[in-house]
Amino acid sequence: MMRLSTTLARGFAGLACLAASGAFAEGVVNVYTNREPGQYSATLDEFTKATGIKVNAIFSEQGLAERIAAEGDKSPADVLITVDIGRLQQAVDLGVAQPIRSEIVAAAVPANLRDDQGLWTALSMRARTIYTAVDRVKDTALTYESLADPKWKGKVCTRSFQHPYNIGLTAAMLVKHGEAQTKSWLEGVKANLAKKPSGGDRDVAKDIAAGICDVGLGNSYYVGLMANGKNPDQQAWAKAIRPVLPTFEGGGTHINVSGAVVAKHAPHRDNAIKLIEYMVSPGAQHVFADVNYEYPVRAGVPVNGLISSFGELKPDLMSVSDVARARKRASELVDEVGFDR
Ligand SMILES: [Fe+2]
Repeated sequence: MMRLSTTLARGFAGLACLAASGAFAEGVVNVYTNREPGQYSATLDEFTKATGIKVNAIFSEQGLAERIAAEGDKSPADVLITVDIGRLQQAVDLGVAQPIRSEIVAAAVPANLRDDQGLWTALSMRARTIYTAVDRVKDTALTYESLADPKWKGKVCTRSFQHPYNIGLTAAMLVKHGEAQTKSWLEGVKANLAKKPSGGDRDVAKDIAAGICDVGLGNSYYVGLMANGKNPDQQAWAKAIRPVLPTFEGGGTHINVSGAVVAKHAPHRDNAIKLIEYMVSPGAQHVFADVNYEYPVRAGVPVNGLISSFGELKPDLMSVSDVARARKRASELVDEVGFDR
């Protein structure tokens, strides 16, 4: 059996690692990623087994697109794999992406989940759900707009609204309803908060379990990670909530994506394309569904049973690129209403 050769390194230690592992050799592909290595390193190992192409992965929480830009045409980066449409758009805006020319990717991923110029492709989807207290909330259908309803006064929890997940939602609200309505929505949700925005999405479930709030925003996959993870506290938080797939009024559910970019100066462009083709193959899409609890982008790959128990996902059909462009204004509005203060 072939030795697993994925190199997972962190931050600047990763650079030295890349040099030492022959970043410019032939049978390799260099991946810059802000995805937690545990989430899909098995997929990268499988890719190496299937193709003989060694994967050098550098993990860093942020700043990867900027780093590729700073490295210029000497950058060893072949592929950027990242979470959130904003980070994919940033790679495009910084000019570090090149079109992904692949009939396999085009056939596997619906057009609305790819950049119109082919500069990025989604690899998986996640829904922005509303976690509700299983013992205190009867509603099984909610809209995002309804989080501003005074009936939730003192009952809403959320992480910072400057976090990319909530900026994405606010940007989608802007695309849907325009500025005046989005601003009053933000004011209404803020007025309903049980506590100052803090923590992450899992903390929303924790606070609901503790009776601090009754409803809150959280991504779909955290429910699977908490329920089936090893931490008994988190298992209890997952039991305390019933996730609802909300919709926009007159629309669908807000989704965000994980995705991939081929770096403009990729030294191994063919290998980069092969890796992305592998990530949208049925096998890798199963990993996104069953290990990460994400929604596969490839039709025919089943959603994990726990996630499908929330109901059928009907994503809002607005253009993901439009949402990406509205993010800056969304962030300004969040500040203008003092949401996080
Ligand atoms: Fe997350």
